[in-house]
Amino acid sequence: MNRDLIVLGSMNVDFVVRVTRRPAVGETVQGTEFSIFPGGKGANQAVAAAKLGGNVAMAGRIGDDVFSKVVLDSLSSAGAGKELIATTQDVPTGSAFITVDDTGDNSIIVVPGANGYCSTADVDSLKPHLERAKVLMLQLEIPLETVEYAVKVARQCGTQVMLDPAPPVVLSRELLSGIDVLTPNEHEASFLTGRRVVDVESAKLAASDLLAAGARAVVIKLGASGLVYAEGGRFGSIPGYRVQAVDTTAAGDAFAGGLAVALCEGKSLEEACRFANAVGALAVTRKGAQPSMPERGEVEALLQG
Ligand code: RIB
Repeated sequence: MNRDLIVLGSMNVDFVVRVTRRPAVGETVQGTEFSIFPGGKGANQAVAAAKLGGNVAMAGRIGDDVFSKVVLDSLSSAGAGKELIATTQDVPTGSAFITVDDTGDNSIIVVPGANGYCSTADVDSLKPHLERAKVLMLQLEIPLETVEYAVKVARQCGTQVMLDPAPPVVLSRELLSGIDVLTPNEHEASFLTGRRVVDVESAKLAASDLLAAGARAVVIKLGASGLVYAEGGRFGSIPGYRVQAVDTTAAGDAFAGGLAVALCEGKSLEEACRFANAVGALAVTRKGAQPSMPERGEVEALLQG
């Protein structure tokens, strides 16, 4: 089956604890709630895109344990394709250990498991699918070497590449020059540019640095303060929605899914950012990673105000 969008990346099971405050070193605190959710930045993006009506397939590696079912079932019920997912024997599915506090903010520890086995050979098998896809979506929870190779292959195939540089690592100029749309949040933009990105002005400077480093377009997410986008010599900003934050986990993944679907539909970068901004805002109003991804109708309703 031809897919417009392919997400190559991580699939995790999220073990989530809600806390009033996080423990200091050596301290024990009581949590208020424990949940298991389907997660992983890659799978979150695939679920987000599928729920918005995108023709998307997830690609990557899952373990041969009971947890794989949590992620595979979630992808299926969202309508994301699973035909490009491989199983790695004798290795656990990726996992994430997440604390969410009363403000909805999260801290995450990720254990890659099968995601760590996603290889350049896997990218070679994706090539025929990439040739027919419009956009390849990448993040940084699989080996960097695989991401770098995927960017190269996608470019050869004429497929657009979106990279969500999370969790951030140093990226080569060669890699950045293969990226059509780079979507860091303020922390990742600070890491990548060495600037303190805290507001629209500092985000515009960081976006300018990232364009100079090779990316064709940059969108910097500023949480509740909205976003900054930059393409060619044009810069713009869009304010955030005022929403009651319940859980910010995967808001960036929701945003990426929305952006990719809108770009696939032929929207301009600015229009796509407005759409994605609404998707991300809705995602923070609900608990969990994949369960928080909104339906298309909810996004349209928020956009129409
Ligand atoms: O972006 C949120 C995701 O980061 C979580 O779902 C967790 O699995 C980690 O990958």
